[in-house]
Amino acid sequence: MQESFKATVKITVTGAAGNIAYSLLWRIAAGEVYGKDTPVDLTLLEIPAAVKAAEGVAMELRDSAFPLLRDITVTADLETAFSKTQAAFLVGSRPRSKGMERADLLTANGAIFSAQGKAINDFADRDVKVLVVGNPANTNALIAANNAPDLDPSQFTAMMRLDHNRVLGQLAEKLGTPSAEFEKVAVWGNHSASQFPDLTYANVDVDHDWYVNELIPKVANRGAEIIEVRGHSSAASAASAAVDHMHDWIHGTEDWRTAAIVSDGSYGVDEGLVCGFPTVARDGRWEIVQGLELSEFQKESIAASVEELRSEREAVQHLL
Ligand code: NAD
Ligand code: LMR
Repeated sequence: MQESFKATVKITVTGAAGNIAYSLLWRIAAGEVYGKDTPVDLTLLEIPAAVKAAEGVAMELRDSAFPLLRDITVTADLETAFSKTQAAFLVGSRPRSKGMERADLLTANGAIFSAQGKAINDFADRDVKVLVVGNPANTNALIAANNAPDLDPSQFTAMMRLDHNRVLGQLAEKLGTPSAEFEKVAVWGNHSASQFPDLTYANVDVDHDWYVNELIPKVANRGAEIIEVRGHSSAASAASAAVDHMHDWIHGTEDWRTAAIVSDGSYGVDEGLVCGFPTVARDGRWEIVQGLELSEFQKESIAASVEELRSEREAVQHLL
């Protein structure tokens, strides 16, 4: 029987020779972002020194014979990479090593996102969806969005789905319940140690001390823990969260998810900062869940992380 396919979508992945991409590209090519009815053209962007390695990744993708995978382009050129792209995963940038905070990467990585924001502004599809994974992800997304004045800021997001998934993973382990059963979980703020994993509205009954003194610091420091134990920063879990984020953005959600999006001023978060919120996706847009009453504990926890986002914005003024 003849299968019926939708139109082919163009997807760009930067940092294509890196660790995250080595997992992410296979999930995209398998149709896990747009769906099993949507063929994909993949464009892999790398720095010139890593283009050969990215060619090797492209060879392996071909050798995987994915039914949905059409063209593969490998390039170091920004116009080629982003021309007419509909979904961009901005992964390419340096990861931190032991002892560093993610914000220590601002100097090394910030400029990548001003150049890519400009190129997306100039060449991408007008409805492009952009997910920044490279750290510090929130402020890199802020930089990219500010360099794309012809696009809507809501088209630029940063990845905090990994933090959200980490909460679900910890709850599943603690309570012996499958992760899909938890609802109304959210992570506010920055993808950093200051983030605020929030169980206030979740359908879970957990000990308050465990929540405040164990779960919150465990999730907020999980990236550093992975680097310590694994020897490299998270890769497959990051790729998985990137697929979840983009899939839900495209297909919509019933329950809450965490996405870092450009703030409209909700909940006292300065307009323009890219911040993690409780969100739902509807009609191809992330919307902040409105009308939540915040306790003093929530307000203080959110404010501490927003303060860090402000200082990161201050540090990259020259790139905005
Ligand atoms: P990696 O070092 O394995 O790969 C990064 C790749 O990016 C390299 O191949 C490098 O050549 C390429 N690159 C560098 N500059 C580039 C540019 N200007 N254009 C295109 N490609 C470029 O790193 P990784 O483990 O894949 O991690 C990538 C980034 O993702 C890091 O910044 C890491 O901290 C971040 N990360 C974020 C999250 C999150 O939850 N937001 C989770 C995990 C990792
Ligand atoms: C993570 O949360 O695993 C990533 O942001 C990598 C890191 O540097 O912690």
